[in-house]
Amino acid sequence: MAVNMKGKSFLSINDLTLEEMYQIFDLSRTLKEKLYTGEEHHLLKGKTLGMIFAKPSTRTRISFEVGIYQLGGIGMYFGPNDLQLNRGETISDTAKVLSRYLDGIMIRTFKHEDVEGLAKYGSIPVINGLTDLLHPCQVMTDLFTILEKRRKLQGLKLAYIGDGNNMAHSLLNGCSKVGMDIACASPKGYEPQGWIVDNAKKNAAYMGSKVVITNDPVEACKDADIIYTDVWASMGQEKEAQERNQRFTGFQVNNKLVSNAKDDYLFMHCLPAHREEEVTNEVVDSANSIVFDEAENRLHVQKAIMALVMG
Ligand code: CP
Ligand code: NVA
Repeated sequence: MAVNMKGKSFLSINDLTLEEMYQIFDLSRTLKEKLYTGEEHHLLKGKTLGMIFAKPSTRTRISFEVGIYQLGGIGMYFGPNDLQLNRGETISDTAKVLSRYLDGIMIRTFKHEDVEGLAKYGSIPVINGLTDLLHPCQVMTDLFTILEKRRKLQGLKLAYIGDGNNMAHSLLNGCSKVGMDIACASPKGYEPQGWIVDNAKKNAAYMGSKVVITNDPVEACKDADIIYTDVWASMGQEKEAQERNQRFTGFQVNNKLVSNAKDDYLFMHCLPAHREEEVTNEVVDSANSIVFDEAENRLHVQKAIMALVMG
């Protein structure tokens, strides 16, 4: 039976039930089919999505804007200098005002608390398009893409190699929720946050899967079904890039490292990639790589999320 998600905000995968996650995957598949066959699917006719971006974006911005349009609504983009937020208007006032005009808000920003504040003080659904802490739309898409390729999630092993950042955190949330094993390998001092790991271990214990945090990328990649990586310096960390490049030596995903995974492993990356840094061209352009299917699926999965919470 369908679960009603109308009016709910989408801030973290950890807030979703397993039923809600699979409902999103099912609707994503349906909407993808409808788009491919040219069948109209105006589930959000006349609705307006506000899209607030305090950081740059290629995939998130375009997939949300195209997505709301395909659903029969419109998207309004607000860049870093467009709202009074940057001149000191509070999150709570902004949330209350935007709730009087819009049907939903998608926000990409630095502080996760700001996204929680928008959801708390506003009366319309808020969708997290990336914070320093989490990137849940990306990981819902990643899980959907794995499901398309492998027809299952439970029992697979994902190895995340690199920074214990927003991607690592959402992957820990998402994989542990659906019963996938996850091994995260990061250099010392760059591991994912402890409370996120503890929570993932609780989810995994419930689902009968494993969470491993290590400083050894070879150990993490052993028998992996999926190898995932992300940039070493995220948006907002540009000044640390040089130091990070040194600290992350040995964590590059290259042919030698992936030889530890299963032969038919899938390579994934949220993109943008810094080619020849965290991943070599030989891996990202190999037959195992599904990075562009993954990028495409942002459109289908976010349409499903919007339709379910804004419909
Ligand atoms: N993966 C992702 O969120 O890409 P953008 O930063 O281009 O939106
Ligand atoms: N960790 C990266 C992800 C980009 C989609 C960042 O936050 O910049």
